[in-house]
Amino acid sequence: MEVRRDPRSFLFFIILLLIINSPEPQQQSFNTRSRYDELIQREWDQLDVLNRTRYGDFDVSRKKWLNVSGCRVEDGFAWDLLPTVRTKANAHGKQALGNTWRSVLDGTMNQHDLEEGKLPVYRNISGYVEGQWVRDPSSRVRHPQDMGNTTHLAKDPFTNTPMEFDRNLTGAGGPLRVHFTQLDGKMRTDLNKTIGEVSAKVVVGDDQSFGGNWWEFYVHGLHFKDSGHAVLTTTSERFAGIFALPHFQLSHELHDSARDFLNWTIHQTIDRQIHRPFPIWNPWTSSAAGNNEDMVGVAHHCEFVLYFQQPPSGRTADIDWLEYEMRFPTGAPLGPRSRLSMSMVGFSPDCGYVIESKGPPDYAPSEAQHLVGAKTEEYNDRARHSITAFAIAFAFQLSFLIKQMKETATPSMRSRVSFYTIAMMALGDGFTFLVLIFMYLFLGTAQLAMYSVAFVALFSVLVHLRFLMDIWSVQAAERARQERQNAPAAPTPPPAPAAPTAPTAPSDLPLAADAFGTPATVARPPPGAPPGLPLPVTAPRPPPPPPPRPPTPILIAPDQDDPLSDDDDTPLLPTRNPATTPAPAQAETPTRAEFGSLYSRFCLLLIITFFVSIQLATARTLYRSVYFSVLSFIYLSFWVPQIYRNVMRNCGRALRWDYIIGTSITRLLPIAYFYMKADNVLFAGTDWQTFAVLAGWVWIQIVALISQNVLGPRFFIKEGWAPPAYDYHPILREDEEGALLPLNATSSSDDAIESEGSSKSAGEAKDKGKKVFDCSICAMDIEVPVVPAGADESTVAGIAGTSMVLQRRLYMVTPCRHIFHANCLEGWMRYRLICPNCREALPPL
Ligand SMILES: *[C@@H]1O[C@H](CO)[C@@H](O)[C@H](O)[C@H]1NC(C)=O
Ligand SMILES: *[C@@H]1O[C@H](CO)[C@@H](O)[C@H](O)[C@H]1NC(C)=O
Ligand SMILES: *[C@@H]1O[C@H](CO)[C@@H](O)[C@H](O)[C@H]1NC(C)=O
Ligand SMILES: *[C@@H]1O[C@H](CO)[C@@H](O)[C@H](O)[C@H]1NC(C)=O
Ligand SMILES: *[C@@H]1O[C@H](CO)[C@@H](O)[C@H](O)[C@H]1NC(C)=O
Ligand SMILES: *[C@@H]1O[C@H](CO)[C@@H](O)[C@H](O)[C@H]1NC(C)=O
Ligand SMILES: *[C@@H]1O[C@H](CO)[C@@H](O)[C@H](O)[C@H]1NC(C)=O
Ligand SMILES: [Zn+2]
Ligand SMILES: [Zn+2]
Repeated sequence: MEVRRDPRSFLFFIILLLIINSPEPQQQSFNTRSRYDELIQREWDQLDVLNRTRYGDFDVSRKKWLNVSGCRVEDGFAWDLLPTVRTKANAHGKQALGNTWRSVLDGTMNQHDLEEGKLPVYRNISGYVEGQWVRDPSSRVRHPQDMGNTTHLAKDPFTNTPMEFDRNLTGAGGPLRVHFTQLDGKMRTDLNKTIGEVSAKVVVGDDQSFGGNWWEFYVHGLHFKDSGHAVLTTTSERFAGIFALPHFQLSHELHDSARDFLNWTIHQTIDRQIHRPFPIWNPWTSSAAGNNEDMVGVAHHCEFVLYFQQPPSGRTADIDWLEYEMRFPTGAPLGPRSRLSMSMVGFSPDCGYVIESKGPPDYAPSEAQHLVGAKTEEYNDRARHSITAFAIAFAFQLSFLIKQMKETATPSMRSRVSFYTIAMMALGDGFTFLVLIFMYLFLGTAQLAMYSVAFVALFSVLVHLRFLMDIWSVQAAERARQERQNAPAAPTPPPAPAAPTAPTAPSDLPLAADAFGTPATVARPPPGAPPGLPLPVTAPRPPPPPPPRPPTPILIAPDQDDPLSDDDDTPLLPTRNPATTPAPAQAETPTRAEFGSLYSRFCLLLIITFFVSIQLATARTLYRSVYFSVLSFIYLSFWVPQIYRNVMRNCGRALRWDYIIGTSITRLLPIAYFYMKADNVLFAGTDWQTFAVLAGWVWIQIVALISQNVLGPRFFIKEGWAPPAYDYHPILREDEEGALLPLNATSSSDDAIESEGSSKSAGEAKDKGKKVFDCSICAMDIEVPVVPAGADESTVAGIAGTSMVLQRRLYMVTPCRHIFHANCLEGWMRYRLICPNCREALPPL
């Protein structure tokens, strides 16, 4: 089936992509080459400083400075904090390793350790750890003006004061997460595999900043594999962190091994930098976005030096074997193993704060445990399991949908389902598809599983679109018919006089919700009545004309299509009204065009939501959580359009109850995972209250839908709020002429009544206030409560009360005053919208 697409939206999409991916404007491109050469020369000079200096050459208390950027006296960094931080890092090492720490510091650990075996620490710290940081009392607050004259401050264009630095932690604490990366092959280790390069992504937040600000940056450095400690630093134009790294080490021996290692690796890195076709301005950049550090006008950021120490595992498993088995599983049981954990001391030499991970001995172990996380392999396992669970939920959701679609196969069923409910679900699945496709950028793992779920999501979108198209074509036909009927000056030939059977199809198309401005009316005027709704049966009517056809019920098997019937009655119309009825082929075309434009709006909305979400995923914690909670709330309101449609059409049985419940649960599950599971794969913070609100909201909608089904679609709506609609469940009243009662009363010669020895008049039942009628669908009796003639208002109110609500739902009375069992007529109306007795058209249910 060909769907016309609106090319404008795709054009917009492409332009959006171009704007987003366009490279940043390069300043001073004319002297880029010379600037680059200058940069390389500066790196050589700084490497030379590293090559030549020895431990103790950088000692601020004795006025010994290092000739690399950031470590000179005129740079104005707060290097007097370094001894304090070193002492703290020492304390962390001693606490973690005990007496072994001494041999780590003087470099004798290898010999010492040969007898005892290696320390049980992970050699490969790829993975993540998370926890809380606390600000140390030795911290200060430094201002941009305090930096030396080598820092060119970016001025605020409005106030002309220096702009504050990025990553300026001023609160007393906040969340901290570190993702270590130590790649085999790409990152170097020395020959004895004692030192390795490591880089880490640090995500640090400040609880006391406005809205919970947080930053993400990269640090690079060294990992001493045998002792489990690591020193990492940022490197920028203002601060040559990686070149000064040996001087941040805790002892002479560690300085020497770090210098030897860095002398070699930095040399290689600069060589590579020279021979690359495209310039890399900073191979050790700390900015997540890449190289935009060199841009003019970008505010400076605080630099970091971080010390990590891994505590030895309490369980004395063979760590080498364990790590190998985790990475290349052969199926051997891994047994109990400790999680990847770290303690951290860090400081910012320019912004002047000292931070520490929160944990023992300063805090009780029950309160905080420094930083705890998982190795990459465990994280990948977890991600895989979550994705599998998600796929299963998706499969269930699809099976519920397909069942529902099978049930909703007839036009009169389709016209009950709200287009917008299904469209919201399709949007949700489309969003899931986009997220899964782009998720690998974030996770970098489990891609195959993710793509297969993305495929399922895409399939689900397509199934939903198919369903939407079915619904749309039925509802558009109804709308078109209604517009025809509403057209005031239509040169319609006068209808056949006084023909109550004129099958001008009734349609009570709703839909303020449809946003197409179609007025919600029902237009099947009974002869002689003012235009509007079919009147309630209980309203006085002129005596009905004799039925033009014998009231033989037309029975069709539920799974057969009646050749006479057309779903939207179009073939019936041309015979009556050829002038105003377009040929079906002509009617199809505008429907598809409309659907096509709707389809491109759908894509556009999806893409915009996705990009806004990506933008807000990196916003402050408060904005982010508000945005995603609101988005989830809107998404989880998907039953609201259905409830609304039920009310407007006065019809309650659009969807299967297992579809309602199953879809709600399977769509709530992924959201529950992110809101309630503490170590979820996206590191989203848990929030029980918000999730309780979301789940409660879905619950309220389910309750509303199901009680609409049981108690009637408008039970919670005051009269007059919704446009009047035909009421199939009226309260029946008796009057003298019987003009208000249904026509198909059981005749007095009826066998059933006869056998009971009843001599009462037609339709009289044993109980007072009840009458028996004849359902021509199943040919059985219906016993119906009737308000006796002349009853006063209080009796009517009593009958109209609560017990009657359910009883009234057992029978249905058509506008042509035929009464049926509710089950019989509903089953019938799923296939045809005409009265089984007299073939008069029925308003849709
Ligand atoms: C390091 O210093 C040695 C002398 O100590 C010198 O021969 C060598 O060229 C220097 N290497 C670099 C990269 O500066
Ligand atoms: C640094 O490396 C160079 C060769 O790249 C070598 O000549 C020099 O001796 C090394 N310096 C130190 C201190 O190891
Ligand atoms: C610092 O190094 C630069 C070259 O990078 C050199 O021009 C300058 O003289 C050095 N300063 C001192 C005090 O050694
Ligand atoms: C850090 O933030 C504090 C408080 O807002 C401010 O006074 C200080 O100037 C900032 N420091 C830098 C280097 O931006
Ligand atoms: C920076 O300040 C130092 C003194 O603190 C001075 O010796 C040096 O010349 C100044 N440099 C510049 C570029 O102004
Ligand atoms: C560490 O483990 C990760 C995850 O399995 C792997 O990708 C990486 O190559 C390993 N690094 C080293 C140095 O073995
Ligand atoms: C490797 O270890 C051996 C002995 O354990 C030592 O002699 C050698 O210097 C070490 N090499 C490096 C690069 O550390
Ligand atoms: Zn029946
Ligand atoms: Zn009828």
